[in-house]
Amino acid sequence: MNHFPIGLTPAAAATLPGHPFVGYRDGSLQVENLSLSALAREHGTPLFVYSKAAMLDALAAYQRGFAGRVAQICYAMKANSSLGVLQVFAQAGCGFDIVSGGELVRALAAGAEAAKIIFSGVGKTRAEMRQALAAGIGCFNVESEAELDVLSDVALTMNLRAPVSIRVNPNVDPKTHPYISTGLKGNKFGIAHEDTLRIYRHAASLKGLRIVGIDCHIGSQITEAMPYLDAMDRVLDLVAAIEAAGMALEHIDFGGGLGIDYQPDDTPPAADALWRQLLAKLDARGYGGKKLMIEPGRSLVGNAGVCVTEVLYVKLGEQKNFCIIDAAMNDLPRPALYQAFHAIVPLTAAGESAAAVPEARYDVVGPVCESGDWIGHDRMLRVAAGDLLAVLSAGAYCMSMASNYNSRGRAAELLVDGSRVHLIRQRETVQDQMRQERLVTPEAAGAARPVPQSKAEPLSLR
Ligand code: LLP
Repeated sequence: MNHFPIGLTPAAAATLPGHPFVGYRDGSLQVENLSLSALAREHGTPLFVYSKAAMLDALAAYQRGFAGRVAQICYAMKANSSLGVLQVFAQAGCGFDIVSGGELVRALAAGAEAAKIIFSGVGKTRAEMRQALAAGIGCFNVESEAELDVLSDVALTMNLRAPVSIRVNPNVDPKTHPYISTGLKGNKFGIAHEDTLRIYRHAASLKGLRIVGIDCHIGSQITEAMPYLDAMDRVLDLVAAIEAAGMALEHIDFGGGLGIDYQPDDTPPAADALWRQLLAKLDARGYGGKKLMIEPGRSLVGNAGVCVTEVLYVKLGEQKNFCIIDAAMNDLPRPALYQAFHAIVPLTAAGESAAAVPEARYDVVGPVCESGDWIGHDRMLRVAAGDLLAVLSAGAYCMSMASNYNSRGRAAELLVDGSRVHLIRQRETVQDQMRQERLVTPEAAGAARPVPQSKAEPLSLR
């Protein structure tokens, strides 16, 4: 059901639930001070529009939570790695949580300080390790014993000692979608709680490493405080054991994962309220003075963005009505991948053309040739072809997971800052998409044939 936003008449001047900087003014949906219809007319659709104020507001909740503490917020850039978005966080003094050499290059290009970058992920290559060591990143979050050995080896060849944290798996259930739950036994992430001390001792014995911290991340879109509180207890037990064994830890990295309200049933704790509880735990156990690191992604950008899309066709059927829009699973992959809910709202009070059409229940779908290409099921909408809709909570894990499936170009992105707008990504053209590809020329095809003509077997079409 599209029961979101409840009780909101588009004509009223009100912000949308969960989206403090997106709301209707004079019947028209705005991001900060700018009308989305006007932006869509100028830049076309599908179009991602982000509010800078919303990102800074979300960041401020964490900053309030950490007031008076030694803490570093490392934005998990996989949530949205567009340069213009990274720049907002770099300018606000954030560090970055990266998971690839590509993300390292992006973060640095956006103005990140290398010393505030931490490198997570289960499959870092030697080349990525070299690249990150050469850049002088702050910490590698190592996820296996084998990775410790390789990292030490790589660091020694560069005459360096790599700063490391080991990601521990606290085995708590974050109560989220299985694909985005990471801290349970049986997930590929981190090392088992029971093996921690042994593996820290191993790390301490490696000449190319310098132990700096401990790390954990239990999952994503977590909407309750309890899994975090449980994980903190388990991590602090490990901190005590590691330090008792003579290995000092400079920081505790508690990962990311805090959810956002995609719909009214999602009621995640506010970042500052959550951290008040977690810090009370740290204080009670005597670790309140330790440096803290966190890696939030979604909670910093998710509700800062919307995706504006045009209704292409309305197709009424006996069993179902379809509202076919110009955004698709390649732009907004979360419904197809995780059966995720994104609210869908009209851009104008009733949409001039739509005013005359009755409200009906629709499946909102994209043009991609798959039944999995849906953006919303069973949504009550008053729509006609040509109307514009906004898909909400589209700031995180949408553009960063967008693809070119069906040879669709990726959408344009705008960053709104008060009454100003910046085009931070141009719409991708088909020429952009084909740039790295080559046709096979007849001569090259001949030259590439490995078997001499005389011995060649007849070509089988099997
Ligand atoms: N740190 C680590 C090690 C992570 O693996 C992640 C996310 C984060 C931090 C940031 O988590 P966040 O604060 O954004 O929840 N594509 C999925 C989400 C995948 C999350 C992967 N890891 C989705 O669209 O829901």
